[in-house]
Amino acid sequence: MYRSRISGLGHFVPENIVTNDELSKLMDTNDEWIQERTGIKERRWIKKGSGETSATMGAKAAKIAIEKAGIDKDEIDFIIFATLSPDMYFPGCGVQIQDMLDLPTIGALDVRNQCSGFVYALSVADQFIKTGMYKNILVIGSEFHSGALDISDRGRGVSVIFGDGAGAAILTRSNDDKRGILSTHLHSEGKHAKELAVEAPSIAHWVPEILSNPDDLSYYPYMNGTFVFKNAVVRFSEVIMEGLIANGLTPEDINILVPHQANLRISQFVQKKFKLRDDQVYNNIQKYGNTTAASIVIALTEAHEEGKVKEGDLVVLAAFGSGFTWGSAIIRW
Ligand code: ACO
Repeated sequence: MYRSRISGLGHFVPENIVTNDELSKLMDTNDEWIQERTGIKERRWIKKGSGETSATMGAKAAKIAIEKAGIDKDEIDFIIFATLSPDMYFPGCGVQIQDMLDLPTIGALDVRNQCSGFVYALSVADQFIKTGMYKNILVIGSEFHSGALDISDRGRGVSVIFGDGAGAAILTRSNDDKRGILSTHLHSEGKHAKELAVEAPSIAHWVPEILSNPDDLSYYPYMNGTFVFKNAVVRFSEVIMEGLIANGLTPEDINILVPHQANLRISQFVQKKFKLRDDQVYNNIQKYGNTTAASIVIALTEAHEEGKVKEGDLVVLAAFGSGFTWGSAIIRW
């Protein structure tokens, strides 16, 4: 069996910064409430009419990751694209990347696992590489949330949290059995699907039906915030521990934890539980908000660029989100 390692990382966020104060002009909210509850100071939102989308941002992040990996784009064997905000209902963004980057006619897969999307995508890529099927896989997480948020008093509990952005990683086959992705761990609990969801439009509840009822707002995200918080802190902790135990490791072995940037309070809870120092947990939700499937790979890219992820480090990725789904990846860098 081979091992896969992350050989290149890249990220892209829109230029347009939206501060909490700016949001308070659009809805009944304020900087103090948002920072206290979520840690978020600002987020990036695509400017209307700019033409930027999940696919275009993903392509920009991917170009950087390919360059950093030092490979030619034609050496990529497969594309995995994680998003909950695709450009089209179908087909997925993966095929758009194949076209936008002018890649050979390789396979392209979309992953719909929301905040856990990047960890799921990484896990799928890891299996393809381990078994020898592919050598280089492009994994992208990208979200264009701002186009479909309820930016009003009614939607304030959700819309202040989410931001736009993209990240990409190249996974490459390696023969080094001590380094690379050691294991991944994936879970789901579908009975909570509606606690954090956009229910429509869906085939079960299609556009004419929605338009016929002005009170039908099922196309906006719904989140039972308190319930999500309670489940998130438990599942984050469980799945990190599961990954450590599977590799004969303990929390003391962690060099850096890069959690999904759901909410700074959730990350701080997990940090405290595992008795990690500030420099052992990477957070950037303060400047980007929650970018769902993009959040871990954007954070990992920045942590790496800042020299916080070093060769030989034990890097733990962990995610929890809509589904519910959750997962972790244990990586020896
Ligand atoms: N600005 C000001 N006031 C607000 C806002 C806002 N943006 N949103 C809600 N409020 C008000 C509410 O209306 C409510 O007012 P009331 O007491 O008069 O009824 C009050 O603030 C408290 O509302 P709660 O929803 O109870 O606030 P809570 O303290 O639970 O915080 C939050 C909400 C931040 C969403 C919290 O539940 C949370 O952190 N949940 C975790 C979910 C999460 O982080 N999700 C991220 C996305 S999912 C993921 O990535 C896993």
